[in-house]
Amino acid sequence: MAGQGAHATVAVTGATGALGGRLARRLAEQGVPQLLVGRDVDRLPELPGTERRGPAGYADAAAMRAALDGASTLVLVSGRPTGRRLEEHATAVEAATEVGVDRVLYVSLLGAGPEATYRNARDHWLTEQFLAGSGVRHTVVRAGIYASTPASLADDALTVRGPGGSGRAAFVTHEDIAAVMAAVLLDDGPVSEHDGAVLEVTGPEALTLSEAVAQIAESTGRPYRYVAETPEEAFVRRWRMGLSGEQIEAWISWYLAIAGGGLSTVTDVVPRLTGSPAARVVEADWWPAPGRAS
Ligand SMILES: NC(=O)c1ccc[n+]([C@@H]2O[C@H](COP(=O)([O-])OP(=O)(O)OC[C@H]3O[C@@H](n4cnc5c(N)ncnc54)[C@H](OP(=O)(O)O)[C@@H]3O)[C@@H](O)[C@H]2O)c1
Repeated sequence: MAGQGAHATVAVTGATGALGGRLARRLAEQGVPQLLVGRDVDRLPELPGTERRGPAGYADAAAMRAALDGASTLVLVSGRPTGRRLEEHATAVEAATEVGVDRVLYVSLLGAGPEATYRNARDHWLTEQFLAGSGVRHTVVRAGIYASTPASLADDALTVRGPGGSGRAAFVTHEDIAAVMAAVLLDDGPVSEHDGAVLEVTGPEALTLSEAVAQIAESTGRPYRYVAETPEEAFVRRWRMGLSGEQIEAWISWYLAIAGGGLSTVTDVVPRLTGSPAARVVEADWWPAPGRAS
């Protein structure tokens, strides 16, 4: 119904977070009616044309049904890796379709696949497979590696240390991913060219971690730097930090996925869908505090 002044009601999950919050603000600016769904209603943003719904976590089918009632479209921002992320996502999608949602936009991860190097990319692929088999109209947005992530991996001395070697990745800003999602959602007629699509959202250039971290240093004016280590060195250091095996594997495999080069392809999705060039890392609008990822 785009262009007729009326939009389908979009339920945005993850709206307390960095990506969902940016999407909600963009849709509000476009006059799209929204249900903002969260686990803590008080932390949801207050925006024009929105209703705050919850508390509702993905695993709670009844709470999700109540929160999503009245929506036509569900934006499912992937939850944190819990070991049961597929089940949580499936519960949320099933709750949505039970109350009449007929379109889903899922935020997946670049490189999602059954044999992905990055541990967290493997269960994103499981959710993608669930959606493909569900029969619901859907679009998968595979977000590239966040431009902000190296900043959150830095230690207190602003050093990013890990086995990323000199591999490259096309780091992308949250703002550009939100802009792509908004473009997909604003194409809200009965059919859309994005139905069934898998959109790989990347930044404009493939950078080594050294180059990406140098751009963070330039943007923040602070002396961030990258130091490559071997997987063995990374394991020992993280084990001594008291991390679990699962956390260590996720952390190390994130770097190894970059080292392997499989995340370095630059796509045209941002310019094609938003009409603007993708932002460089140095242009990102925010930086998480060092150590946040741990
Ligand atoms: N592409 C990348 O490089 C990259 C990097 C890191 C993470 N990610 C993925 O992208 C997602 C969004 O990124 P972000 O930067 O916006 O993260 P974020 O700021 O941590 O926000 C995550 C959002 O998801 C919500 N959430 C998490 N688990 C949930 C659950 N089980 N049920 C209901 N809501 C849940 C959180 O709600 P609460 O406020 O209640 O916790 C929060 O609103 C992350 O959750 C993660 O899956 C991607």
